[in-house]
Amino acid sequence: MVFDYLDGGSDDEVTLRRNRTGFSQYNLMPNTLQNVENIDLSTCVLGQDVDLPVLMSPTGQTRMFHHSGENAVARAAAKAGTIYSLSSLSSTSIEDTAAASLGPKWFQIYVWRDRDIIKEFMNRCRQSGYHALCLTVDLAVHGNRERDLRNNLSFPVSLTPKTVLDVLSHPVWLYHYLSKSKIELANVKDSPLVKVGKGENLLGYVAKQFDPTVTWDDAAWMIEQWGGPFLIKGIVNPEDAKRAVDIGASGIIISNHGGRQLEYMPSPIDVLPHIVKAVSGRAEILLDSGVRRGTDVIKALALGAKAVMIGRPYLYALASGGEAGVDRMLDLLRAEMIRDMALLGCTKVSDLTPDHVFRN
Ligand SMILES: Cc1cc2nc3c(=O)[nH]c(=O)nc-3n(C[C@H](O)[C@H](O)[C@H](O)COP(=O)(O)O)c2cc1C
Repeated sequence: MVFDYLDGGSDDEVTLRRNRTGFSQYNLMPNTLQNVENIDLSTCVLGQDVDLPVLMSPTGQTRMFHHSGENAVARAAAKAGTIYSLSSLSSTSIEDTAAASLGPKWFQIYVWRDRDIIKEFMNRCRQSGYHALCLTVDLAVHGNRERDLRNNLSFPVSLTPKTVLDVLSHPVWLYHYLSKSKIELANVKDSPLVKVGKGENLLGYVAKQFDPTVTWDDAAWMIEQWGGPFLIKGIVNPEDAKRAVDIGASGIIISNHGGRQLEYMPSPIDVLPHIVKAVSGRAEILLDSGVRRGTDVIKALALGAKAVMIGRPYLYALASGGEAGVDRMLDLLRAEMIRDMALLGCTKVSDLTPDHVFRN
């Protein structure tokens, strides 16, 4: 059930699969006989220098996948010289993640019904040195993830014959689950503003806090409250990208939530050129959903993304090898990018242009 929560998408998982086939429809056009002895993958994202243009997308409850959780991913990102984004629904708190890794960090946020909780999150992020906020806008309601329904997945794990059998067949996972501190919604559990009603659990409270009445005015209010670098994550429509910039967003993350929300959303790589045109340099554009290979990163950068983000790749790596697994995944991605840039005839990120990419 934990694997399915990580791996799965919504409905028939068409969008999930298309995130991969989307990239495969774009080809690369090399320039030969270039001096490619030294390849430099560094770039600058919202004023922060990174050694690798691959950032960590926010994912909730990361300790479910490996007991070292968010801290391990944040540390691996820092070692690779890139940015880690912590989810609002993380299993490690804003403060504990900041203490575990001095690397650059962003915080992902939702619009909660109780606006005081949003202000509290912002203050905690300021105090803990988070550089940017990232508002997720593709989750007005929860996507229909049928693997999770089939598996009776809940947080905390509820005891049914099926879930008991599942966890008993994974004794190492079970050992860590029982012997380490409880996996919880770490950012909300101790907040004095959180008032869990009688007969309600924390997750039920948080589910009620998701505000489906949210509009652009609320996003604009959040940008004003934060007053620093602010990204909007989950945009695929060029018109929405324009509106995001109009209300003051400094960055846009093109994303379909890794195929976990609305089925049949477009592949990010397909809408990237349109969004680049609509935004015309007024904000930085990032992209996630389906990035797996060095060539995927190169295609996105060539078509105008400042950097890409990844979710599942670091979660698979974390689940199988802990922090060392994430280190290894990032090493592999970096090695692929260096090789691919050399074969393409480019030595730095700014060499990449739309002329390097053509569609089938
Ligand atoms: C297990 C899991 C949990 C996620 N949790 C969050 C979250 O809490 N907030 C959020 O904005 N996005 C969340 N996402 C979406 C990721 O931030 C990202 O958009 C997506 O994973 C990118 O696609 P990829 O997994 O194909 O790289 C989650 C994704 C996964 C796989």
